[in-house]
Amino acid sequence: MPKIIVAIDGYSSCGKSTTAKLVAQQLNYPYIDTGSMYRAVTLYFLQNHVTLSNPKEVEMALSQIHISFRMHVGTGKNDTYLNGLNVEEEIRKMYVSDKVSEVSAIPAVRHALVAQQQRMGKTRGIVMDGRDIGTVVFPEAELKIFMTADPYIRAQRRQLELMEKGEMIGIEKIFENLKHRDLIDTTRAESPLKQAADAVYIDNSLMTLDEQVDMVVRLADEQI
Ligand code: C5P
Repeated sequence: MPKIIVAIDGYSSCGKSTTAKLVAQQLNYPYIDTGSMYRAVTLYFLQNHVTLSNPKEVEMALSQIHISFRMHVGTGKNDTYLNGLNVEEEIRKMYVSDKVSEVSAIPAVRHALVAQQQRMGKTRGIVMDGRDIGTVVFPEAELKIFMTADPYIRAQRRQLELMEKGEMIGIEKIFENLKHRDLIDTTRAESPLKQAADAVYIDNSLMTLDEQVDMVVRLADEQI
């Protein structure tokens, strides 16, 4: 059976990752959350006090970073490792979310991570989500989805996610963080978030998770 690339792009906290993970399980493909790679780089930069405006420091830091994933068979849980350490929980915290879009706008960061993402998808048969997967990482992907949802619904979903992890953050702060990230992500010079011309647009504000997953799996099946 031919293997395809499923690229899912969209705004922060619109449910991309949850959908992508379940789609990957149904297709029996690995799933890569590229946002977690940008978050891991951000964590490293924060821990090592890297000056974002200093290209030499950025390059040096990037040469010290190794990001990998470990998938838990059965649960579909996918943990992110930074230089051998499991950082899955740390990279989801608000202090990382507050800086990640600034770090992601740095061209050298994008070049390094895009190259790694392209290597991971070389043999196809992969579901990848992010902001530039259908436009930059895999413009030749067989299925491209552009996902969005009402901004307030996205903030509520994110608040619930953080609450489940024990981080209590007010809805206004989350809303502001999402708005701030959307603005940087869509206006940066280097590969801004935008819908690929051949992407299927899904607004999932009023859709259940099952409905979203079914829809993407059906679209994928049509390509296989
Ligand atoms: O998907 P998530 O919200 O975890 O992504 C965190 C941030 O990483 C985004 O707000 C965006 O700035 C950046 N990102 C990106 N390109 C990607 C994935 C994420 O710039 N492919």
